Amino acid sequence: MKYDMTDQAERGYRAAEQKAAHYFASLAAQVKDKIYAPALTADFECWKQDHLHPPSWLSLWSRRKRKPEASDDEKYIHWLNDAGKLDAYLERSVSYMYMRDLGKALDSSDTQIRIQRCMAGLKKHLLHSTAANGGQQPEAMSLAGVYRWAQKEGIEDAAIWVIGKLRSVSAHIPEGMDAEQAQRKLIKIIAGVVLHVLEDMEDDILPAERARRLDEAIRLGYSYGLTYPFIDDLLDSHVLREREKEQYSRMIRSALLTGTVPEWEEWAGRDKEMLRFIHSELRDAFEYIKEHQLPETERIFFEQSYVFFHSQDLDRAKELSNPDYTNEELYVPIILKSSSSRLVVRPLIRAPEDEGFHHRTFCYGIYNQLADDFADMFDDMRDGAVTPYTYYLKYHGQRKDLINPFELYWAVISHLIHNVYRSDAKSREVILARAINGLKRCKQRVGNEKYHEIMDLFTAGIPEFNRLIQHMVRKADGVDFLDKLLRDQMVTALKNERKEKERFFATIKTVRRQINEVLPISKHHGNPAVQDTLIDAANYSLEGDGKRLRPILAWVMGVQEYGLKASALVPLLRSLEYMHTASLIFDDLPSQDNAATRRGRPTLHQAYNSATAELTGLFLIQKAIEEQASLDGFDPNTVLALMRYSSQKAADICTGQAMDLQSKGQALTLEQMNAICFYKTGIAFEASIIMPAILARVNEAEMSALKKFAYHAGIAFQIKDDLLDYEGDQQLLGKPVGKDAENNTSTFVTILGHEGARKEMWEHYCLASEALRAIPRHIAFLKHLLNYLVHRDR
Ligand code: IPE
Ligand code: IPE
Ligand code: MG
Ligand code: MG
Ligand code: MG
Repeated sequence: MKYDMTDQAERGYRAAEQKAAHYFASLAAQVKDKIYAPALTADFECWKQDHLHPPSWLSLWSRRKRKPEASDDEKYIHWLNDAGKLDAYLERSVSYMYMRDLGKALDSSDTQIRIQRCMAGLKKHLLHSTAANGGQQPEAMSLAGVYRWAQKEGIEDAAIWVIGKLRSVSAHIPEGMDAEQAQRKLIKIIAGVVLHVLEDMEDDILPAERARRLDEAIRLGYSYGLTYPFIDDLLDSHVLREREKEQYSRMIRSALLTGTVPEWEEWAGRDKEMLRFIHSELRDAFEYIKEHQLPETERIFFEQSYVFFHSQDLDRAKELSNPDYTNEELYVPIILKSSSSRLVVRPLIRAPEDEGFHHRTFCYGIYNQLADDFADMFDDMRDGAVTPYTYYLKYHGQRKDLINPFELYWAVISHLIHNVYRSDAKSREVILARAINGLKRCKQRVGNEKYHEIMDLFTAGIPEFNRLIQHMVRKADGVDFLDKLLRDQMVTALKNERKEKERFFATIKTVRRQINEVLPISKHHGNPAVQDTLIDAANYSLEGDGKRLRPILAWVMGVQEYGLKASALVPLLRSLEYMHTASLIFDDLPSQDNAATRRGRPTLHQAYNSATAELTGLFLIQKAIEEQASLDGFDPNTVLALMRYSSQKAADICTGQAMDLQSKGQALTLEQMNAICFYKTGIAFEASIIMPAILARVNEAEMSALKKFAYHAGIAFQIKDDLLDYEGDQQLLGKPVGKDAENNTSTFVTILGHEGARKEMWEHYCLASEALRAIPRHIAFLKHLLNYLVHRDR
């Protein structure tokens, strides 16, 4: 029987609503009496002792190192360290995270021990990683950094899984929504869930159990986090039309009430494809969460989720043009949505509800919400969104009963410090610093004039208290937070990443087109008819739908990095693709892999016959040498060096193929596997990078860094090829799948199994990515090439 929780869910909602209304009434009373102002004034008196420093004569003379912008993260962290401020910064940041994300109270000695431990780890990590990577993308935000962490924890599978999921989500974020923000939020939620699980772990937990829990936390975090971009943000955006939004909301509500995601219904709107993807992702996520619940946490989880969804729904339905909302209508749903989004996390990971956590988190939500809404006030105004601030801005003139949200914000702060956190000094320190930081950031963003305009409006009733906070905004320091820095860093990193990636694919596309134009071998008039057969056969193989990765790589390195002339490189590009195509022709022969299709068409020996195929392979190799010998405009000795290198490498590839064929059915060691892969495949990648480097006379040190990259990237490429042979789509690949198993070929997959091979590929991915750091050039293309190699589906 299908169970229906409608009654229960609605009762749950009403109970939560009552509690929120009660909380709101007590806050509103504090605003009315303005008792928060004297209380906070006294708090600031204590607080400022650590944050206001009288100007000292000494500091004027001893021109201390100027404080760098907080956005220049690496310098900033080191500056903090040199100035002796890093500990306080980390303590503030970590304490804040414990309050906000973990719902802890700072006056517990157990929490203090954990905070200190976390700080120490973080400090080591920050000082080490900013020093080590020479200003590149922060290590923790690169795929290699994430994977390396996963290896340490023994959770590679979960990491690979979530990396794939994040990629696919970001590829499916519809236009009109912010893909970087979606990714950032998702990552933040996953991190939050992982933190909760880490917090709950005993110190003496066995590594395998620790890994199991972390693995599950990542998947649960993703499954829950998915609701942010795909439910909340999507419904907030203008991507769907009204009718579509209604249909979509109905579906979500029904899932929460019945515990089952409704089947995909036919969608009339234009967003069918996107929604089908979202539906299937959300369904998987929903099932995963459900499977991992206990009976007692499941009920709380669904109840809390329903409160979350329903309060958001009510909040979203408001219109700025309606002048009649009561204060309760404005605030109660946001108290509920902001607290339930965090309350849901404990039952999500099957942790018992603990009273202290529940109360603190319930009270805390609105603080965070009002801080965020304050920061987004102008964007929200532009979008016509109702928040306490936009509504007040619009109606404060005609609605004298409206509560001033800025005053309410301070009332919440006072309530948190004194009632929720029991006037604990550490809590006061952190919360006030955060509040001043928020105002400083706002002032910086909107500029002095606009800032004062807002302040004049919102503080008209509290002039004295306002003078105090503005004094703090101007003079106080030590109010920065690491999570803000990470947030900015992550948004910048994700944005750059996206731009680079688009550039990468645009480059690939145009260069590939140019290469395709110069590849066909032309027939010379007057030649005997028999030669035309080989030219036709060679062109038949070349015309297939090849990716042209090797000449593209040579083009990018040669033209973009070494500044060689594109036209002068054409013979090199031809030679690379001719040799590669020849190697495929041989590889497909009945005497080798015996494959029937290649590049989306019958293999050459199928279309002609084996003898023609063999001869065409040889013919193409000779053509490649002819091309190399026609490299014009370079020093002849350089061209000779290139040809010598090329012949050696071509011979090595033959050796690689021979090793590959001899190894059939043998249990090879990892070392032997690596050797075979490097010889048969990696070398061609190396050659594509090194040959233009030879022409450009690049120095030895750089050459060896390039070779190291090519070695690992090439092996990663071949492992991906092996994986695709196992699980790929024949149609997309344009060549048969399952050949390796059929031929009993020893590949990474046949030896290590599917998952083992995938891990090995990621290991080489990390090594290649680490090798990139030693290359003194723009590495964006190589970085994205590497990403492409391991994520491609053809
Ligand atoms: C296939 O290479 C042969 C291997 C080294 C695995 P590609 O996957 O680059 O093949 P094309 O050139 O795109 O057809
Ligand atoms: C081939 O490896 C390597 C060379 C052609 C040098 P595979 O045999 O795995 O290549 P595919 O899968 O047939 O393209
Ligand atoms: Mg082969
Ligand atoms: Mg093959
Ligand atoms: Mg293969």
